[in-house]
Amino acid sequence: MMFYTSKYQQLCLVATCWLGGIFSCLLFFQYSSTRCAPEIPPFKTDFIKDLNVSKPVSAAQVQPEQPPEPPEKPILLLWFLPENYKWDYGDCKKIYNIDGCHLTDDRNLYNEADAVLIFHKAISWDLSNLPPSPRPPFQRWIWLHVESPTNTPKVPGIENLFNLTLSYRRDADISVRYPLTVSKKPNDIVIPKKDKLLCWFVSNMATHTGIGTRMKYYNELKKYITVTIFGRMTGSRLRDEDYFPVMASCKFYLAFENSVHKDYITEKLNGPLAAGTVPVVLGPPRQNYEDFSPGSSFIHIDDFPNAEALANHLLALDKDDEAYRHYFDWRKHVSATPQLTVWNQEFVIYICHACEYISRHKEYKVAHDIYKWYFS
Ligand SMILES: *[C@@H]1O[C@H](CO)[C@@H](O)[C@H](O)[C@H]1NC(C)=O
Repeated sequence: MMFYTSKYQQLCLVATCWLGGIFSCLLFFQYSSTRCAPEIPPFKTDFIKDLNVSKPVSAAQVQPEQPPEPPEKPILLLWFLPENYKWDYGDCKKIYNIDGCHLTDDRNLYNEADAVLIFHKAISWDLSNLPPSPRPPFQRWIWLHVESPTNTPKVPGIENLFNLTLSYRRDADISVRYPLTVSKKPNDIVIPKKDKLLCWFVSNMATHTGIGTRMKYYNELKKYITVTIFGRMTGSRLRDEDYFPVMASCKFYLAFENSVHKDYITEKLNGPLAAGTVPVVLGPPRQNYEDFSPGSSFIHIDDFPNAEALANHLLALDKDDEAYRHYFDWRKHVSATPQLTVWNQEFVIYICHACEYISRHKEYKVAHDIYKWYFS
């Protein structure tokens, strides 16, 4: 076969080479663009780390940052102002460091109130002064009552209205007492200066209010020992600010409850414990007192067969400083906190603790037949 190099053939050759070149160039370009891919700015992955993708990303996290809204405090509406005592609602924060609710007595907030505090003694017998119907479905009613069953009027028709009970009783939903505090670090024990032997602060001597037991005991006791009385009945009424100084100046104090009921152990015990005075108690059995206070912190009238024996014991302690001092030993690791003594602050502790409770508890709850519970 002949190898022709005619003009036609040369032209074909040139064209073929030229096309091949272009093709090769195209191939090379394709190849190098693949190879050079790393030179293209890499796909940004930093933000994934920023968003914490190891956890699921929620819509909220992707949105621009905003300062978190403070959670709205539940509203506690005081339907009645107990005994019409006006006080500064800022006291809950100031005195007990309780700040978890919006405390108000503005009835215009009824439909928004998370809880309504209803003072038992203010409820009228025909119930006409209770909050109106319909009752907001989320709202809880709190029964506030701090008297013992003996001094509790049984207003009919309210047995099944409430969700929560507030009382001194330990089995109330909101149990408000004057607890003693334990401390690891030992306290200094300082016995205040004493210039009176046995004191009693008492305003109510009318026997119909259930104080028969304590009056009978007092009338017997005073035959054997001098009792210094302060109160409305005697003309030497104490001013609120004198309560603790006078209490501290007595060696013993008659912490006689007005009636005898389980857990009904009131500020009549806490006062002398906080002041540095030895309480002589009349109330529920010793064992119930010992649920709340060391056995050596008080003298119980039941420790003696009769008032005369008690009087003799107190008179003996008056002459025996060493023995008297033993009634203070418990104070090394336990202490009492003074209660509020200003008259218009009587209910502050109860109301503040209701506030504290509703700020922490959201459980659904109904208090069935409160009288059956309270009087049994
Ligand atoms: C509160 O108690 C009443 C009955 O006393 C009940 O009908 C209501 O459902 C309770 N509500 C809440 C929010 O607990």
